[in-house]
Amino acid sequence: MRINDTTALSNYEAHEDRYHRMKYRRCGRSGILLPMISLGLWHNFGHDDSFSNARNILRTGFDHGITHFDLANNYGPPYGAAEETFGRILKQDFLPYRDELIISTKAGWDMWPGPYGNLGSRKYLIASLDQSLDRMGLDYVDIFYSHRRDPDTPLEETIGTLHDIVRQGKALYVGISQYNAEDTARAAAILEDLGTKLFIHQPRYSMFDRWVEDKLLDELERQGTGSIVFSPLEQGVLTNKYLGGFPEDSRAIRDGRYLKEDSITAEVLDKVSALNDIAKSRGQSLAQMAISWLLKDDRVTTVLVGVSRTSQLLDNIGSLDNLDFSDGELKKIEDILA
Ligand SMILES: NC(=O)c1ccc[n+]([C@@H]2O[C@H](COP(=O)([O-])OP(=O)(O)OC[C@H]3O[C@@H](n4cnc5c(N)ncnc54)[C@H](OP(=O)(O)O)[C@@H]3O)[C@@H](O)[C@H]2O)c1
Repeated sequence: MRINDTTALSNYEAHEDRYHRMKYRRCGRSGILLPMISLGLWHNFGHDDSFSNARNILRTGFDHGITHFDLANNYGPPYGAAEETFGRILKQDFLPYRDELIISTKAGWDMWPGPYGNLGSRKYLIASLDQSLDRMGLDYVDIFYSHRRDPDTPLEETIGTLHDIVRQGKALYVGISQYNAEDTARAAAILEDLGTKLFIHQPRYSMFDRWVEDKLLDELERQGTGSIVFSPLEQGVLTNKYLGGFPEDSRAIRDGRYLKEDSITAEVLDKVSALNDIAKSRGQSLAQMAISWLLKDDRVTTVLVGVSRTSQLLDNIGSLDNLDFSDGELKKIEDILA
């Protein structure tokens, strides 16, 4: 492990019951079990975010059996900051637990200026992963992703590079994010020819964005590839947070780069309110129901949440207490989403 700052190991000890507090699912046809809730560091781990809050979130997650933390080269802001924050916390708290963790990172979106700091070339992916490993102080990540399909780079180049990264020992497994079903099938075939498995796909999936249901989930099942679905709460919209107005500390108001306030319309809030009533009748928060609803399909290996505070993470983990839906509930939900 290549950690280069001088911060000492803390006296943190992970909760001894952590593996009884979480449920796990096998990732496709692989040897790896992933927690049914995983934690992403896209927001809330930048340089301007509270370090102690970030650390409490990660500790709370691990204490509840969340073994999988998802990063990307450009999470921050600024780009790279989330990996740096994670690297510090890893060094202080999680070093003794490295072999209990599945850590992922990605490259594919803009990272540095010029033609070699974006998209899907071999040059970019290899250089970016080396930088990510430096920032996190790691010798290898557990999963490395092509973060998006680059239509101008031959798929053989992008996917062949993933295979080479595994051969170099810099990633144990590889994945792709947001690739459509056809490109996923091609990527899996390229990897198979080379002798590497397409381990996981990371698509966007929520009650409000159901594109994966068309062809992708079937393709993943065929390939024996797992799935980790991101933005399951539509960045916070699929919770009760915006039903009483726009809180100052919410993502829509505090950040607004990706979640625009004006996208949360009265029509959206009517649906959220109707869904909230069903959640209440199930004894769940809306966030919990939105997660349970995704996990009812066992082709979904894990739901990748983001949180701005530990209470949200605990709420989200509580979704695992009620994963069953009656036909009547499913019908009511379909009627609202229609
Ligand atoms: N592959 C890709 O292209 C891609 C793209 C985007 C994301 N991702 C991954 O997916 C992860 C999750 O994405 P996301 O952050 O958009 O997920 P999300 O879970 O849909 O939204 C997270 C936000 O929802 C709010 N929230 C979460 N739990 C809540 C609860 N129980 N009650 C009320 N509000 C709650 C918080 O917002 P507030 O800040 O308002 O409190 C939180 O920051 C990212 O960290 C990243 O790892 C991948």
